[in-house]
Amino acid sequence: MNDTVMPHVDFRSDTVTRPSAGMRKAMADAEVGDAVYDEDPTTNRLESMAAERLGMEAALFFPSATQANLAGFMAHCGRGDEYIVGQTAHAYRDEGGGAAVLGSIQPQPLPNEPDGIIDLDAITSAIKPDDFHNPVTRLLTLENTFNGLPLPEDYLQNAIELARSNGVSTHLDGARIMNAAVAAGREASAIAGRFDSVSLCLSKGLGAPVGALLAGSTELIARAKRIRKTLGGGMRQTGVLAAAGIYALEHNVSRMREDHDRANRLSEVFREFPELGAGEARTNMVFLSPEGVDMRAFTAFMGDRDIITGSAHGKLRWVTHLDIDDEAIESVRRACKEFFGR
Ligand SMILES: Cc1ncc(COP(=O)(O)O)c(C=O)c1O
Repeated sequence: MNDTVMPHVDFRSDTVTRPSAGMRKAMADAEVGDAVYDEDPTTNRLESMAAERLGMEAALFFPSATQANLAGFMAHCGRGDEYIVGQTAHAYRDEGGGAAVLGSIQPQPLPNEPDGIIDLDAITSAIKPDDFHNPVTRLLTLENTFNGLPLPEDYLQNAIELARSNGVSTHLDGARIMNAAVAAGREASAIAGRFDSVSLCLSKGLGAPVGALLAGSTELIARAKRIRKTLGGGMRQTGVLAAAGIYALEHNVSRMREDHDRANRLSEVFREFPELGAGEARTNMVFLSPEGVDMRAFTAFMGDRDIITGSAHGKLRWVTHLDIDDEAIESVRRACKEFFGR
């Protein structure tokens, strides 16, 4: 738990964490320069570190994962090209349609299966033939973890091979790639390094206040840098922020195992009350699809006990993170017992 005051037990998202004392000190002590002139030593160090961790040649610091994804799409695709993306993927549904709005890139959304994958046959059918009537299918983008689910390794390999054999590049929205890596007991590079590009978010389970990275080949990152400038993402003394990112990569990756264990315990608590329809926790998220339970009353009851939860895709979403400790899980157990009267 952080040393800062906790007004609530907040399970809405892993984005709600506040920087720890150690992270704040690293930020205060950061050596800085003008990053637009490539003169910020801390940002340069974070970019090299992230490239190495993700198994890529180069990486670039961004203010947000939304901008990192968008710059990635624009670096891969030209005007009128298309990218294949999951119908419920963050990069399609929750990023303001940036690829279309700002990149003139047409999305080709395809359904996400319950385990987060996009069916390979559906991808094959969606890749357009080389015909002047069609947009050029340039990119396949996947998300890992997807709603807290790590995508199966063999699926990732097959999807990448399918894309490559059709001349289509691959991008991974790896906002939570570190959760996937920790869950698999593997280095992130073993998962991300096979893609042509990957985004990584520092302000989710990694606990930094701001920041994301896009990693890929040196050539792709050089293109993305030009695009980042166009998008207004060229920032100056970013070392203050990059220091938080370095601290996060050094201190907050392997400890994600604790978040996953707590999510697992949370799922067990909820399963004591079958009507909550609790799903399994594969990383740091638990979803509830209650039956015969008034969701609003349940959420309000929790809220009255300072326990905040969120919703996603018609379900209640509970996310564990740096600011959720064992006592927080116990407080949910007590509240559930009280709510159900048993
Ligand atoms: C899977 C995924 N990708 C990308 C993003 C975008 O991150 P940001 O809020 O830093 O733009 C999010 C944010 O929740 C996300 O969940």
